[in-house]
Amino acid sequence: MGSLAADAHYPDAADRSLVLTHPTAAEKEQTWRLNHGEWGGPLDLPMYLKREPFLASTSLAANGGMVHWILTDAPPTQPVSQHEKRRVLASCEHICKRVLYVPRNGDEVREGFGYGIGSVYTYPEFRGRKYAARMLRELGEVLKTWPEEEQLRKKRSQGDEPDSRGQSNGQTKAEGREAVCSALWSDIGKRFYASKGWPAFASGHVEFPSSSPESPLGTPSLLERSVQPHGTSLTLVPVNTSNLAQLCAEDEAQLRVELIRHAREHQRIAFAFAPDYDVFRWHWAREEFIASQVFPGRQASEVRGMIATVVNTNGAAKEEKTRVWAIWTRNFGAGAASSPAKNTLYILRLVIDDRGTTTPHDPKTLQLAFDAILHSALDGARAWHCDSVHLWNPTPALQGLIAGSGAAHKFVDREVDSIPSMMWYGPDGTKEEEADDVDWIANEKYCWC
Ligand SMILES: CC(C)(COP(=O)(O)OP(=O)(O)OC[C@H]1O[C@@H](n2cnc3c(N)ncnc32)[C@H](O)[C@@H]1OP(=O)(O)O)[C@@H](O)C(=O)NCCC(=O)NCCS
Repeated sequence: MGSLAADAHYPDAADRSLVLTHPTAAEKEQTWRLNHGEWGGPLDLPMYLKREPFLASTSLAANGGMVHWILTDAPPTQPVSQHEKRRVLASCEHICKRVLYVPRNGDEVREGFGYGIGSVYTYPEFRGRKYAARMLRELGEVLKTWPEEEQLRKKRSQGDEPDSRGQSNGQTKAEGREAVCSALWSDIGKRFYASKGWPAFASGHVEFPSSSPESPLGTPSLLERSVQPHGTSLTLVPVNTSNLAQLCAEDEAQLRVELIRHAREHQRIAFAFAPDYDVFRWHWAREEFIASQVFPGRQASEVRGMIATVVNTNGAAKEEKTRVWAIWTRNFGAGAASSPAKNTLYILRLVIDDRGTTTPHDPKTLQLAFDAILHSALDGARAWHCDSVHLWNPTPALQGLIAGSGAAHKFVDREVDSIPSMMWYGPDGTKEEEADDVDWIANEKYCWC
């Protein structure tokens, strides 16, 4: 890594003069040009340069929801006009997301913010000099008090110039709310980020090949196979923008109950990212953008998930209703149109509707609803050249249903890619609690960014 003469030219990562700040538009573009090879997937450079600002304009990321960061050696007081001369030693971004948690021994759900950190990157010429480490250490601290910290910084720097995100000093999304954690999904294993304060959480998933020899089962065959009592009906309703908000609200209501139950039962902090409409829309926007490039002229899928409802009338006075739903997205790799192996349908969130049920679901009925969801996801994968369906960190109940489905599958413990990792700040940033004290409920793909 560089000659001695060159080394003298690089600032020490511990140097107090290095600052964490925001990139200019030109610096952002330069960073994308360089990291296109890492994260461009099937997009060529011009399309990648369009996708990044496009995603930043979605409702989750717009208006301060997403913030880009760099570590640089130029003083914060340097005028913007001089910024083309400063060096970008490392870069990343964060997206603000709503989170729900119940403190240990708590009996009510609190709301706060969590920051998803992404695109941690060091320009090749600067690698191995601890610049990423320095940037992350500073960012981990800054986000504890973000965005108040930003207001202070702005006051400190003279004037009210628009900042490098192209925003003036307007409100940011998280204003006045508490940040309780930051999280990232490491693609470089479990050690690097853990040593900087973001320990790894469960990183398992189950994958189902969409090309399994078993032919796809339609609703009548599923009913037939599950040997349901007379009077059983199965209804499938696609998830799309029209019913997404309702599903999110129902999911959150149920998740809140689960968080309280979990915290009480385990005497630990129970935490979840809120399954918010804007979060799913961000994933879908990403899919739409990529799919339009990989399959030009093809309309984006109208089926972004499935709701399976099984009703048993069974001659009884009271009908029993069991509902399971999944929300999914597709991701496409390089050469996607001809290489299905690089494409995956990710189940972002899978919910067994337990609301209003005091008795456990009938196992056969629940299995039928789950099988219908799984077969719908496999259909959705095949229709878009995706070789597999992935579901992250299935609960024990879901593991039982997976086994009962008879579908080909394998469990994978990811050691390198997409490792959920979290720095816990706690409600008041006092850091009396550590990430070790936190149980991450619904640690599913929707949380990822
Ligand atoms: C990962 C990356 C950001 C590190 O930047 P850096 O400024 O060189 O990092 P530092 O000098 O602070 O630390 C280097 C460390 O990164 C580790 N590292 C770098 N690439 C790695 C990889 N692919 N897998 C595992 N560890 C890796 C080194 O082993 C070293 O570990 P150590 O601190 O235990 O000695 C940089 O290599 C990079 O931009 N890589 C390409 C993009 C990428 O993979 N980003 C991470 C996405 S989660």
